[in-house]
Amino acid sequence: MKKQTIDSLRRPLRDLRVSVTDRCNFRCRYCMPAEIFGPGFPFLPQSHLLRFEEITRLVSIFTSLGVEKIRITGGEPLLRKDLPQLIAMLKAVEGVREIAMTTNGSLLAEHAAALKEAGLNRVTVSLDSLDDARFQQINARGYSVATILKGIDKAHEVGLGVKINMVVQKGVNDQDILPMARFFREKGHILRFIEYMDVGNSNGWRLDQVVPSRTIMQLIDAEMPLEPVEPNYFGEVASRYRYRGTNQEIGFISSVTQAFCSTCTRARLSAEGKLYTCLFASSGVDLRGPLRDGASDQELRDLIERVWNERADRYSEERMQQTGKPNQRKKVEMSHIGG
Ligand code: GTP
Ligand code: 5AD
Ligand code: SF4
Ligand code: SF4
Repeated sequence: MKKQTIDSLRRPLRDLRVSVTDRCNFRCRYCMPAEIFGPGFPFLPQSHLLRFEEITRLVSIFTSLGVEKIRITGGEPLLRKDLPQLIAMLKAVEGVREIAMTTNGSLLAEHAAALKEAGLNRVTVSLDSLDDARFQQINARGYSVATILKGIDKAHEVGLGVKINMVVQKGVNDQDILPMARFFREKGHILRFIEYMDVGNSNGWRLDQVVPSRTIMQLIDAEMPLEPVEPNYFGEVASRYRYRGTNQEIGFISSVTQAFCSTCTRARLSAEGKLYTCLFASSGVDLRGPLRDGASDQELRDLIERVWNERADRYSEERMQQTGKPNQRKKVEMSHIGG
């Protein structure tokens, strides 16, 4: 029987999201607004990043505590040099059942084959619009839709699983909901709509910028009828649907209107080796220090286990109880822990 590590609300530790860099080549307003993440922004120096050996060692400790699924994130993970090498190292860790990666897709076409070869199972590509003018405004770095679609095609071609994430913001890209649904239904990829969240302190989030999943679902259902599908696994973030009469699935991630904290099994490891127990945490627990000071596997395991046992985070549920106001305390930025 595999070990289970349970937190104070009885949630098991199952998934580890590993950020491999805090940098990104995009400047999406809702994540890394250019006026804050501009020249001179103090990104992590190379020496502060966990090395591949260090990540692998931590992952093997996490799997001994019950983690089965690894998700590589950033910033933009493909900016990290030699990433396929890390994938291959993680693939060899006992207990790692699946490795996925969340990426903006801009560098995917050139890396997809090597990632697949190294053992990556699937990618989730963020894409918020199919309209070039709007997409360029969203990424703020002039990347075109065609580049991302090329990355998606290549990933599919080499045999990686592919999902698409679209963050919906009222007045920014809500007119793209139907075109995106039609396009990816036709293409046969799972598209998930994400409610815009108040992650970090720099995106100036307001509740009235959120388009509730229910609204999106009704919009799509009116044109292309939907029916619900059972969750794939305990604690799945997306509510799954399919187009009636087909096997083509779409999903809704209702992180604001229907928070899913009660089944949250995710731990997050930042690129500098801090352990976060919630996407909205103010601070993380340093693992790099003890790691570099010679802590044994057992000492690191005890530390991680203690942190998880004490975990009581349920930010998204609390936010809704506070009439949808974002909490103004300091929160870690999304680009630091990769969503
Ligand atoms: P699979 O189900 O394995 O495909 O992955 P996933 O949906 O867990 O991962 P993905 O990175 O695609 O998550 C989609 C988005 O959901 C993230 O980018 C976040 O915006 C949001 N999300 C994921 N995990 C959490 C979480 O723990 N809390 C909150 N509030 N939002 C989350
Ligand atoms: N709200 C919701 N999703 C966000 N993402 C980044 N910032 C936010 C936010 N404020 C999404 C990205 C990507 C994933 C890592 O998180 O679009 O799909
Ligand atoms: Fe945009 Fe993702 Fe980069 Fe953030 S990490 S700026 S959401 S592409
Ligand atoms: Fe998990 Fe925190 Fe997100 Fe709730 S808000 S689902 S506890 S990461």
